Amino acid sequence: MKEDTVGNTAAEHDSTKPVVLVIGTTGQVGKLMVEEFDRDPGNVQVRYAARKSEQVDELRAAGRDAVRLDLDDPSTFAHALHGVDRVYLLTGYTVAMLTQSKTLVDAAVKAGVSHIAHQGIFANWDVTDSHFAWHQLIERYIEESGLQWTHLHPNVFMEGLTSMTPVKNGSISVYWGDRRVGWIAARDIAAVAATVLRQGPTRHGGKNYWLSTEVASGPEVATILSEVLGTEIRCEIRGPQDYAAAIAQGSKNVEKWYAEAGVDFTQQVIDGRMGYIGTVRDDVEFVTGRPSISLREWATENQDRLTAGPTA
Ligand SMILES: NC(=O)c1ccc[n+]([C@@H]2O[C@H](COP(=O)([O-])OP(=O)(O)OC[C@H]3O[C@@H](n4cnc5c(N)ncnc54)[C@H](OP(=O)(O)O)[C@@H]3O)[C@@H](O)[C@H]2O)c1
Repeated sequence: MKEDTVGNTAAEHDSTKPVVLVIGTTGQVGKLMVEEFDRDPGNVQVRYAARKSEQVDELRAAGRDAVRLDLDDPSTFAHALHGVDRVYLLTGYTVAMLTQSKTLVDAAVKAGVSHIAHQGIFANWDVTDSHFAWHQLIERYIEESGLQWTHLHPNVFMEGLTSMTPVKNGSISVYWGDRRVGWIAARDIAAVAATVLRQGPTRHGGKNYWLSTEVASGPEVATILSEVLGTEIRCEIRGPQDYAAAIAQGSKNVEKWYAEAGVDFTQQVIDGRMGYIGTVRDDVEFVTGRPSISLREWATENQDRLTAGPTA
């Protein structure tokens, strides 16, 4: 172990292995990436970034290499990126992703990083919805940086059924009317991301991976949940105005800019401009060698969370 600049200890590096830095370690996908790398670290050394010192301490207490990195504070980047070869860039539900990603990519170039894998969105190139457009601007910026890149394009997270639109009083609500959308399990995103980072840019550089496993409307999801949970789950079909009202009432914990983009998203899915959201494009097995997780399998694995109520 060695001492780092904030006075914490970090694991010694094995200089023969590429160093991977995972950003977003404590979130929905990031937590599962930790599990993926615990199960199979491959031939890389994994370093986890967290923005709070207590999160860093917790990761280190469990024997993991961890550093503090606050995407809103570029002064934390140089130390976190020192000696790093590959980065997983995951940002939260915020317009700040633009500045965060621009500054992080610049720092990665300076630090000699060779490969960035970015968690983006599932959209056509000419999408007009703003939070999708922000992710695309980030992708273009990464491509122009000279770094080798891999773009992940997940569709709607199944985990939303325990967070944004959870089972509540025996029903779920969807805000895209009766339209079908494509779903992906966060575990599959994490598995694809971990595989890309283990295998690196020779295999995955310049690739786009599309992660939309199965399409289902709200009522179709409710039917699956009812069968898995053994109790009737109804679906409240709602629209953009309902989503906007829920945000205005403060019942959705989403920042204003991101929330407005979410309202536009529901409108564009309903009126067909983003009808492609309801399509299957499944690269999970191509990358990981195992089939993707279906909604039914996900619900079966997550019965406790589905019946526990909202998590965020
Ligand atoms: N939900 C969907 O259906 C969906 C679909 C497609 C794409 N996406 C994209 O997926 C991304 C979100 O993934 P997720 O659900 O796994 O995220 P999440 O659960 O909200 O976790 C976000 C992670 O980023 C960290 N983070 C946030 N702000 C940070 C900062 N300033 N500095 C350092 N770390 C910071 C959080 O750390 P803390 O623990 O400190 O907060 C957390 O570890 C977004 O870019 C979203 O656009 C989502």
